[in-house]
Amino acid sequence: MIINFLNWIDRKLRFTARHKDFLYRKIPENIGYSYCFGGMAFIFYLILVLSGLMLTIYYVPSDTEAYKSVVMISEQNFISRIIRNTHKISASLFIIAIILHSLRVFIFRAYLPPRDLNWMTGVMAMLLAFASGFTGYLLPWDQKAYWATEVGTNIFKSIPFIGDHIVITIRGGDNVSGITLIRFYSAHVLFLPISISILLWAHFHMVKRLGISKKL
Ligand code: HEM
Repeated sequence: MIINFLNWIDRKLRFTARHKDFLYRKIPENIGYSYCFGGMAFIFYLILVLSGLMLTIYYVPSDTEAYKSVVMISEQNFISRIIRNTHKISASLFIIAIILHSLRVFIFRAYLPPRDLNWMTGVMAMLLAFASGFTGYLLPWDQKAYWATEVGTNIFKSIPFIGDHIVITIRGGDNVSGITLIRFYSAHVLFLPISISILLWAHFHMVKRLGISKKL
């Protein structure tokens, strides 16, 4: 029944028909499971976006309410607990899949021209994925989150000349505070996902145009 429903949507949107050349084209021979890591990373990304959207319904990004709202999400309701755990687990799996995907690309030298820009958009998306993990870690607003962010942001102080300014800009003050929480929240739910989506669009556009590289 679900398949019939999806087929019906597909016929209406003409998705498969429009992308026929891409979806049904021949891929190089002898490629193995290591070529699936990019697709797996994308699936985890979609799960993250969906579960994250649902978490925003109950999460409150304020220094007085954030912790309480996360406790409520985790303890009051079975479904919200599953959604939070799904978000946390898929975040780790997303990072693992990205690292395995990059290793595959590196080992098979798929970063060489003409796929050099694909490599660059991938690296940028990976850095933003790390930033998403870092900003998301503060959101539960418990002791662990607070001190991890205090220590993590302190690292930027070691940048010569501008380090102190960077830390103050990231934190919104001298210390991690409610202002930092709002900055991290807006980066985590808006700026980073939008930027990652744009980079992935470019990434996939190039995969579509150039095809998958042959195994060495
Ligand atoms: C951020 C998440 C990322 C997602 C969702 C993603 C997804 C994908 C997918 C689905 C493909 C086509 C299938 C495949 O080769 O696995 C691909 C290809 C590629 N990706 Fe990524 N990628 C990501 C990050 C990266 C990173 C971090 C790098 C480099 C460090 C990278 C470099 C490449 C290159 C060079 C190709 C072309 C590979 C070839 O033609 O053999 N990607 N990516």
